[in-house]
Amino acid sequence: MTIQSLGYIGINSTDLSQWQIYGTQVLGLQDVTDQYSSDNSLLLKMDERPFRMVIQQSKADSFGFCGWEATNQENMANTVARLAAAGVTVTNASPELTQQRCVTELVMFSDPAGNQHELYWGPVSNSKRMVSPVGVSGFVTGEMGLGHVVLPAPNFDETSAFYTDVLGFGLSDLMNIKFSDDPAELNKRLWFMHCNQRHHTIGLFEMDFPAGCVHAMIEAESVDEVGLANDRRIAQGVNLSGTLGRHTNDHMLSFYMRSPGNFDIEYGAEGRTIEDWNKFSVFESTVPSFWGHDFSVGQG
Ligand SMILES: [Fe+2]
Repeated sequence: MTIQSLGYIGINSTDLSQWQIYGTQVLGLQDVTDQYSSDNSLLLKMDERPFRMVIQQSKADSFGFCGWEATNQENMANTVARLAAAGVTVTNASPELTQQRCVTELVMFSDPAGNQHELYWGPVSNSKRMVSPVGVSGFVTGEMGLGHVVLPAPNFDETSAFYTDVLGFGLSDLMNIKFSDDPAELNKRLWFMHCNQRHHTIGLFEMDFPAGCVHAMIEAESVDEVGLANDRRIAQGVNLSGTLGRHTNDHMLSFYMRSPGNFDIEYGAEGRTIEDWNKFSVFESTVPSFWGHDFSVGQG
């Protein structure tokens, strides 16, 4: 395995002030833009890393990119070699962008579904802890990265093979989803994959999503923090997309809400970790949750 974790995500925004309020007052992240940004991006901090979310001024409100962390230079070089061998165009980032991301070496590439990615090693950090403006105690990150994302993959076979065969992700579990009782409707595949002890760091959904992401998950340290985040969601008038529930695959207790990026944020706690993937049986879930997670509240 050559990728260690999801180090950061990039988000496109037509109005950075929307994300400034949402990121600090709802998610509870620290705005560290003044400390780092040199290109007018909004930077949000979750932990000891300089920042985990980069919101860049754009003509669209959408997901931007994933920033994947390799543990060291050799592992990054191995991944770049595998990308090149697979015929993927890998672009070296400029020194300016590398410095803006606070990393040592940075490249960019796309996956077969057109999702944008960055890959780096050597985060540059002053190890300052996050000071949440609304008192969030902290987030579950470390070697497991910032959380997980679920990305569109309409060309599913090609894209899922890219993640397992080229990037080295392992399959965690499978779902097959139908949105109606119509027997003619084909199942859409939703596969979850891991690159560390977090049950899944990426999900691939066999559908197109204009926002470029189905949802991104961040994990707080306790269930109370999830409840407090929901209180802040209500206070800020943010739409609920899925009610409180606990997932069957990663055991995450979470709710879903809309973000200014037109994709959802899953705000969770108590996600399970897998110590030994060799002893973990890949399974197919026929329901997403033990209880809750009513997504009908987000429709209409
Ligand atoms: Fe999720």
